[in-house]
Amino acid sequence: MSMFRNAVWFLKGLREYTKGGYEAAAKNFVAADLEVNLSGRSFMITGANSGLGKATAQEIANRGGTVHMVCRNKGRADAAKEEIVERSKNQNVHVHVVDMSCAREVWQFAESFVQGNALHVLINNAGCMVNQREVTQEGLEKNFATNTLGTYILTVALLPALKKAQDPRVVTVSSGGMLTQKLDVDDLQSEKGTFDGTMIYAQNKVRQLTGCGEGAFHDVCVFLQRQQVVLTERWATQHKEVHFSSMHPGWADTPAVQSSMPSFHAKMQNKLRTEAMGADTIVWLAVAAAAAKQPSGLFFQDRCAVATHLPLAFSRSTSQEEDRLLAALSDLALKFKP
Ligand SMILES: NC(=O)c1ccc[n+]([C@@H]2O[C@H](COP(=O)([O-])OP(=O)(O)OC[C@H]3O[C@@H](n4cnc5c(N)ncnc54)[C@H](OP(=O)(O)O)[C@@H]3O)[C@@H](O)[C@H]2O)c1
Repeated sequence: MSMFRNAVWFLKGLREYTKGGYEAAAKNFVAADLEVNLSGRSFMITGANSGLGKATAQEIANRGGTVHMVCRNKGRADAAKEEIVERSKNQNVHVHVVDMSCAREVWQFAESFVQGNALHVLINNAGCMVNQREVTQEGLEKNFATNTLGTYILTVALLPALKKAQDPRVVTVSSGGMLTQKLDVDDLQSEKGTFDGTMIYAQNKVRQLTGCGEGAFHDVCVFLQRQQVVLTERWATQHKEVHFSSMHPGWADTPAVQSSMPSFHAKMQNKLRTEAMGADTIVWLAVAAAAAKQPSGLFFQDRCAVATHLPLAFSRSTSQEEDRLLAALSDLALKFKP
């Protein structure tokens, strides 16, 4: 089943996730949606020093928004901030050095941020694809710690500030890759070797054909992106005051794709989207009035809400499984709360 999902998904990707897919979708975009003045609104973007996060920060700064860049490396963050300020002439760009894979650090940062700052929009963009099992100092698998637990803690801890704001939104950058996976709640940190030999063999066959998804840990990251989509749906039902969305940027030429998926990058290079194309729907969800009119909790691609499951993919989770995910994350997050 997983091999079937991978093959169907890759063909869909060639049609929709490439530069050509973006250009076709963009014919239906309403240009005026992004003609907004964001002065007085405050945006936090994780992983804002590079790739899609940086492109998003630039677009928001260009429109006068206050930008809070949450980055793990001060040197890279300061260099990106300088470029964003130089191009936008907007001085309201601030760097916060936070390692999103460190649960305690994320709690501390978020709880001190809400004391003295307003926040209208949180953009959960930071993500990593570490290609082998790596454990953080807190004993957490690194991809899970960054992509799921870091996102969970930051969002939950910032909700009090978001709920005080007008038109508050949370946008989580996930991936269409999650369409190939069902939610797995039993092995959140890939301790059990989720991928047995047969499964790895089958999936590697698809990888050889497509160049897509290098290493078993690619699949782990895709599991995490499914978790982000489920979290978004659940948060939307729990916190009606805030507008939540998750999204797929398409396949964009960013440092992450170059370094974590070199063979995919080499095969697809001419077909990949620019960073600005990949960031377009993130920006639209964060700033456009039309986006806030969509129901909360949906998954977007090229400014449209799209299905979160492939036809006949049997990737739907039960509400009990989703409850268990939320409970497991809540328990784990509380263990690290200062
Ligand atoms: N590009 C695509 O085709 C594509 C497709 C689907 C989904 N996505 C998603 O898009 C998001 C952005 O990725 P990208 O393609 O723009 O890659 P990128 O250029 O490598 O950006 C990733 C950003 O996340 C930051 N980051 C990683 N781990 C972090 C941590 N522990 N703490 C704080 N920041 C951390 C990186 O910081 P450093 O610079 O310090 O490493 C970088 O700023 C990711 O969530 C990715 O999964 C991308």
